[in-house]
Amino acid sequence: MEIFKTQKELKKHLSSLPDKTIGFVPTMGALHRGHLSLLIRAKVECELVICSIFVNPTQFNDKKDFENYPILIDEDIKQLKSIGCDILYLPENVEDVYLNERDLNVDLGILDKVMEGINRPGHFNGVMRVVKLLFDIVSPTKAYFGLKDYQQYLIIKTMTQQLNLTIEVIGCDIIREADGLAMSSRNLLLTFQQRQVATTLIKTLQYCKDHINEAPIEALERRCLAMMTQYGEPEYFVIRRADNLEKVTPDYTGEVRAFVVCKIGKVRLIDNLQVR
Ligand code: PAJ
Repeated sequence: MEIFKTQKELKKHLSSLPDKTIGFVPTMGALHRGHLSLLIRAKVECELVICSIFVNPTQFNDKKDFENYPILIDEDIKQLKSIGCDILYLPENVEDVYLNERDLNVDLGILDKVMEGINRPGHFNGVMRVVKLLFDIVSPTKAYFGLKDYQQYLIIKTMTQQLNLTIEVIGCDIIREADGLAMSSRNLLLTFQQRQVATTLIKTLQYCKDHINEAPIEALERRCLAMMTQYGEPEYFVIRRADNLEKVTPDYTGEVRAFVVCKIGKVRLIDNLQVR
């Protein structure tokens, strides 16, 4: 695996290669099986696989969260080599990524005004900025995102469409621990006891799925939220249309997902599940 610490060197290298399909997986490191699943899919579908590891400051609305973000670069490199990743872009500083930034003109409608958009002001703007810059640097054929961050996936898909980028944005299934907890770099910050309690997110999502046709949507949202307050500090539990995150009206027959964020101790966990 080749590692590039500046966009200049990476671009020079890429332009020296013959035309290949490029699969790109942007990450913030502390890699786990969730990230690796995206890379493995890219490996199957593309000729050249590029991963980036960059803890992007513009998407953190909480300074402490940014400062506490786990950094495990040696481990990450070992894992990337083990799955056959071809190239790692590991920017040496923030300026290298933001070097050629231009204004972004994207209308996200309600996509950045609900759920994480309310609770983490500025977060998705930071995500869009960095992903657009990384797309410009890497010029991928396909880019892989986890459905764990479903709202992020929809926003990147929308941005790509509106800017007419010829990049296929692919959503990949959520990878979970044996007990159902969605894999996350933040799970490392849980104590042993908090780790046991953290399964409350998937248990509540599963309960929601089991009861989706029995109760009015808003009553079910309230019930699920209340169930979680016994174990942690839930920020929201909402049931929304999967295609645009609008509320589910009685005439809507398409895919529906439930979305949850809950603090266990100081750790903010996020998860979602298709419930219909
Ligand atoms: P990060 O949290 O490191 O996640 C990188 C990618 O891995 C995202 O697409 C995320 O949805 C996916 N992922 C994380 N956990 C997963 C799991 N359990 N199953 C499947 N996929 C999972 O998301 C970001 O970084 C950043 O916002 C980024 C897009 C890199 C922009 O800075």
